[in-house]
Amino acid sequence: ATERESLKARIRQLLKEKQAVLVAHYYVDADLQDLAEETGGCVSDSLEMARFGRDHAAQTLVVAGVRFMGETAKILSPEKRILMPDLDATCSLDLGCPTDEFAAFCDAHPDRTVVVYANTSAAVKARADWMVTSSIGLDIVKHLHEQGKKILWAPDKHLGSYIQKQTGADMLLWQGSCLVHDEFKGAELELMRQEHPHAKVLVHPESPEAVVAQADVIGSTSQLIDAVRTLDAREFIVATDNGILHKMRMAAPDKIFIDAPTAGNSATCKSCAHCPWMAMNGLQNLLQVLETGSNEIHVDPAIGKKAVVCIDRMLDFAA
Ligand code: 13P
Ligand code: SF4
Repeated sequence: ATERESLKARIRQLLKEKQAVLVAHYYVDADLQDLAEETGGCVSDSLEMARFGRDHAAQTLVVAGVRFMGETAKILSPEKRILMPDLDATCSLDLGCPTDEFAAFCDAHPDRTVVVYANTSAAVKARADWMVTSSIGLDIVKHLHEQGKKILWAPDKHLGSYIQKQTGADMLLWQGSCLVHDEFKGAELELMRQEHPHAKVLVHPESPEAVVAQADVIGSTSQLIDAVRTLDAREFIVATDNGILHKMRMAAPDKIFIDAPTAGNSATCKSCAHCPWMAMNGLQNLLQVLETGSNEIHVDPAIGKKAVVCIDRMLDFAA
């Protein structure tokens, strides 16, 4: 604990000295989330991370999360220096949507409005008409559907089909998935609900349909934390990365949180409800980037200039 405390003290000092601000996601290490909050940075979902980073006056942002979050910050603020504790922290949705194949998919369907999830590379965003996050994807697709638009959606198939069902929009779906959320199991969740009949079920929409169908609340990480605060229930079953439990427990210390069932310890459980890339962010590598200024995110300016259009559309829509 003392070593952790001295690392944290040094990080606090360096953030101040370098006039840097820490922007963290709810899935990263609890110490990093606490540091972000204590030092005037933010811990939030991907929409709010993007907005906070863009609007903050600091010229150096340290993004504790995965690569697309750092890239989005850089695209929105090309003049700022964006650092990340580990540049190899990727995302299975990003990995599952290579630029060339995605471009061919778009080329084959030129009549469709291209909507991509935030969890993609800058080059994929450069090809999109709209970027969305889990907190606002439903509203944006609803809006496009009302305008009579046909949609090409990438990459998350579960989020895409959830939005498709809710809105009735004509959506052609890329078949990507998140390796963490894909592990949640509908049949096991039913059994768990029988054991906890009063528990409310909170689900991130990257989860499979059989899990989403049992949800009391479906939403982004921030929206799920809000539900813990506002819902009149003592017990919650949580189907998202278990890094979120830190904030849920802070939001409602007297409530009980239960991890939704995954494939368990079987060989098929690749992640067991914790993102291996979010887990690459720690106190040691955070301290190192602050000390050395290493791990800066770069986005090809030509790509950034195209990609910013779809991100700005979302932020304007959200405003
Ligand atoms: P949120 O935007 O809901 O925080 O989700 C980001 C993410 O990567 C979920 O797996
Ligand atoms: Fe990507 Fe899933 Fe990790 Fe989120 S939890 S960053 S969607 S792999």
